[in-house]
Amino acid sequence: MDMTPESQPSMAMAAATSLGSLELAIILPTLNERDNLAPLIDRIEGALGESGWEVLVVDDNSADGTSDEARRLSLSDPRVRVIQRIGRRGLSSAAIEGFCATAAPYVAVMDADHQHDPKLLVDMLASVKSGEAEVAVASRFADGASMAEWGRPDREKLSSVANMLARKLTGVELSDPMSGFFLLPSATARMLVPNLSGIGFKILLDLLATSETPLKVKDFPMNFSARRSGESKLDRAIALDFLAGLYDKSFGRIIPTRFALFGTVGALGVLVHMAILYAFMQLASMNFSWSQAVATFGSMTFNFWLNNFLTYRDRRLKDADKVFWGWVSFIAACSIGAFANVAVATTLNDRGLHTVFAALVGIGIGSVWNYALSSRFVWGRY
Ligand code: GDD
Ligand code: MN
Repeated sequence: MDMTPESQPSMAMAAATSLGSLELAIILPTLNERDNLAPLIDRIEGALGESGWEVLVVDDNSADGTSDEARRLSLSDPRVRVIQRIGRRGLSSAAIEGFCATAAPYVAVMDADHQHDPKLLVDMLASVKSGEAEVAVASRFADGASMAEWGRPDREKLSSVANMLARKLTGVELSDPMSGFFLLPSATARMLVPNLSGIGFKILLDLLATSETPLKVKDFPMNFSARRSGESKLDRAIALDFLAGLYDKSFGRIIPTRFALFGTVGALGVLVHMAILYAFMQLASMNFSWSQAVATFGSMTFNFWLNNFLTYRDRRLKDADKVFWGWVSFIAACSIGAFANVAVATTLNDRGLHTVFAALVGIGIGSVWNYALSSRFVWGRY
């Protein structure tokens, strides 16, 4: 047989067709799921057979070495690929990363923790391929689904309330718009990507609400199991992320979500300021200047703490020294904001603008300054 290099491409092509070409990419967003990966890939192979699929692990730089584990698996199994993201977080944005990194005509997203049964992928793929549905959704709330094995009645309740709200607000009609297990043509996903909010965890809802023509959805009742190892990443932030996401979809283009949160924290800070001022003057009988100084530092500290907890929860400063220097730089940033505030308000007031309006414009400009400086220097990356 002729084994010159020229004859090899056609042999390679013959091998590719006999293996079956790539049809489905399964995106596994991961955060500390090292021990779940290998067994899950075995289960996927059990469900889909040897070829025609690939797994894309999109890992947000997990501390447990999930990325390295995915690379280790990939060395002996090229169906496994890995995208390791550094300095970025989020289930939705991880899914988006996956949509854009595959050549497979169909994509599925599922939990990496074995809560979703890969066997369902077979019917989900068949229904989307045949055109019966444009999106196949594994549902926890469809007839015949079960959550008994999940063992989380609290989350079950939260999910059903969130689903109801989501249906009302977006007009999307399906039993589980918050499901983390769904399948669709990758071209559809990529077409919608530029208009997705990409925030939080509700990527399916985001896709459905973004599409201009309603997508035809088919529900697949699933048995939502307990996670195999590790703990849920969504427990703590899920309610807040959900609300932030809804806000982002409705008003986010007018006032960005983060700035809205920053502003809300600032407004609460004014209340804290007043409370401290009152306490020091009335209860401790201190003079105004001292009380005002204490109240100013107190409210700045409160704002720093709440912004660290809420507004910048995805970049939260945790180590004691980082928190300390973050607090110092927050106070420095706010002082610059306060200077801009006073300068602008005074100028406007001098030119005849009513005191109240001049003060409001000053506060507005000061807040934008505080926001810009602190998101760059306190919670930013240098
Ligand atoms: N890359 C990345 N980045 N992956 C993440 C992140 C993140 O910030 N947060 C979570 N993940 C991964 C987890 O490692 C897991 O594979 C999957 O996303 C889902 O997270 P879980 O921690 O397993 O969430 P859950 O089981 O509590 O939440 C379930 O219900 C939600 C709706 O109520 C899941 O089914 C979710 O997919 C679903 O949206
Ligand atoms: Mn899970």
